[in-house]
Amino acid sequence: MTNDNCILVIFGASGDLTKRKLIPAMYDLKKNGQLPEKYIIVGVGRSSYDDDTFRERLNEGKEKNDDYRDFLNNIYYQSVNTSSVDDYKKIDDKLTMLNKEHSIGGNYIFYLATPPKLYSIIPEYLSHYGLNKEDEGWRRLIVEKPFGVNLETAKDLNRDILKYFKENQLYRIDHYLGKETVQNILVTRFGNGIFEPLWNRNFVDHVEITAAENIGVEQRGGYYDNSGALRDMVQNHLLQLTGLVAMEPPASLDSDAIRNETLKVFQSLKPFDTENLDKQYIKGQYISSKVKGQDVKGYREEEGVDPQSRTETYAAIKFYIDNWRWGGVPFYIRSGKCLPTRVSEIVIHFKPTPHRLFKKAFGTSDNFNKLVIRIQPDEGVLLKFGMKMPGAGFEVKEANMSFRYSDLSSVQLASAYERLLLDCINGDSTLYARGDAVEACWEFIQPLIDYDNSDNPPKVFGYPAGSWGPEHADDFIEGDQCSWRYPCKNLTNDGSFCEL
Ligand code: BG6
Repeated sequence: MTNDNCILVIFGASGDLTKRKLIPAMYDLKKNGQLPEKYIIVGVGRSSYDDDTFRERLNEGKEKNDDYRDFLNNIYYQSVNTSSVDDYKKIDDKLTMLNKEHSIGGNYIFYLATPPKLYSIIPEYLSHYGLNKEDEGWRRLIVEKPFGVNLETAKDLNRDILKYFKENQLYRIDHYLGKETVQNILVTRFGNGIFEPLWNRNFVDHVEITAAENIGVEQRGGYYDNSGALRDMVQNHLLQLTGLVAMEPPASLDSDAIRNETLKVFQSLKPFDTENLDKQYIKGQYISSKVKGQDVKGYREEEGVDPQSRTETYAAIKFYIDNWRWGGVPFYIRSGKCLPTRVSEIVIHFKPTPHRLFKKAFGTSDNFNKLVIRIQPDEGVLLKFGMKMPGAGFEVKEANMSFRYSDLSSVQLASAYERLLLDCINGDSTLYARGDAVEACWEFIQPLIDYDNSDNPPKVFGYPAGSWGPEHADDFIEGDQCSWRYPCKNLTNDGSFCEL
């Protein structure tokens, strides 16, 4: 890995992502001494800032220390009309000047944080000025989500961008892959001898992946109403998690070795049975309710949302992976807004013992063994197993064994954007989605999109904001006693006590 000097050019610099995520991530990298010796950030956007007014904007409400001011001095701004090819000359001139002045070596990262309709245009216009050519230094392109809105548009976008940038210059961001706990899936599975022998259809009953949010769509109603939970969370973040949970051990930690294995998972996803989609797909939408004494608006009352909208704010899918490791094991994924708490986790439910020797304690299920990989919050890993209740007889109750990142008091988890930006600077694309994988995930989801757009679309079930989604979501899970796990904010506070 290189950590070469470089210029990060952010398109969409006046947007929210730049201020909330990208600039703070770059600052944290600088504070931790992880940025190259010389680095420059150039914001590009339609707003008519100059370098100083852009820096002021980034400084609003920020800690006023010398270190941050010093960091801001490395940030510049170029106002352009991103849809006009002639304007890219200004970007070329600015980069040439900064590159020379700071002896950067011609290494540029272009970060597309603009509205998606510009994702095809910007690479083309950059190429007019040779800004994609790696003659002097390297050139990389980071593309934010959404990468297409269905299979066809994702393929078109791949094709359009690949005319100007090669696959190894392309970094399709999925910020879930940048989360520390997501990377820990690889270490949990392949750094320990005790889990992998059990990680298959012989011992795993089913796998559950949840990404719950307690907030609604907030100011993003306009975007969200054209997207919905299936496209916003499931097609990308949650299928990427599935790839890591289900993949075969890679031969090495090399980017292609890992991404080849996750691709195989996506290619093995069993196509949905289009005759029975209601048994594999549930859509919900939050309706107004009172949460913790506060009135919460229903989705259709949110700004930017069609009052007749059928967009799902909750989606759950059930599917199988057709390969030797996973054949017949159901995978369940759900994601929703305005649920009781914010939590993302993966639960591996192991099969119960073949013969029940002991009496289960009141209120416990038969299935004692679960491994919970908690992605956020209270990041960690939790193993649940049966323990004898003290006293006469052999009554068994579920007990917890846990590891929590917060116990490592000296460790502060890096934000996903921090990790991903650093990886791109270092030329490591392992935690970015490859084009073939993105297309394979869209291909899998496409029948559900077609169903949504059909004359006989799926029902959309209302659920009160602050509840766990549509009432019948549990019927989805195979097995008499099985239901979704209802997690709490804290990893181990479940069962009798639960803080939301
Ligand atoms: C984004 C979605 O990709 O992920 C948002 O567009 C969602 O709707 C967000 O809120 C969730 O990310 P995180 O990191 O907070 O789980």
